[in-house]
Amino acid sequence: MSERTLVLVKPDGVQRGLVGEVVSRIERKGLSLAALELRQVEQQVAEQHYAEHDGKPFFGSLLEFITSGPVVAMVVEGPRAIAAFRQLAGGTDPVDKAAPGSIRGDYGLEVQFNLVHGSDSAESAEREIKLWFPDLGE
Ligand code: PPS
Repeated sequence: MSERTLVLVKPDGVQRGLVGEVVSRIERKGLSLAALELRQVEQQVAEQHYAEHDGKPFFGSLLEFITSGPVVAMVVEGPRAIAAFRQLAGGTDPVDKAAPGSIRGDYGLEVQFNLVHGSDSAESAEREIKLWFPDLGE
């Protein structure tokens, strides 16, 4: 059964020219793109996207970072797309958690500059896809 997940190439990934690398890994895994857009993130979208982290010590810097430059937002689909993309991304901390061979493990060094975001559950994916791509049909 196919599912959808929201993937972001964050400002560091766009700035470093890693959009093609991320898309390539997604496609080589067997997943496909249902939507893709380069955009500057509005403060309000950033706050809603990361609402569950409101109150955490890194919340302010996370919002500042995600609005600091353009991101590439995508809807990625395929069987087990949510878990499959999180496997491709690797753990949140690029050195302590992400294995070599993953996007963060191969290209990241610092937790804030960890290149990509992927929805962490079916509920998050539904909420995030509605937030980023309100006009996308089922
Ligand atoms: S938590 O605390 O377990 O909920 O954190 P986690 O789910 O791993 O991370 C949530 C998002 O916050 C980012 N993050 C940070 N940013 C800046 N500084 C620090 N210390 C930090 N820790 C976590 C992390 O990259 C996650 O972003 P997304 O876009 O969801 O991957």
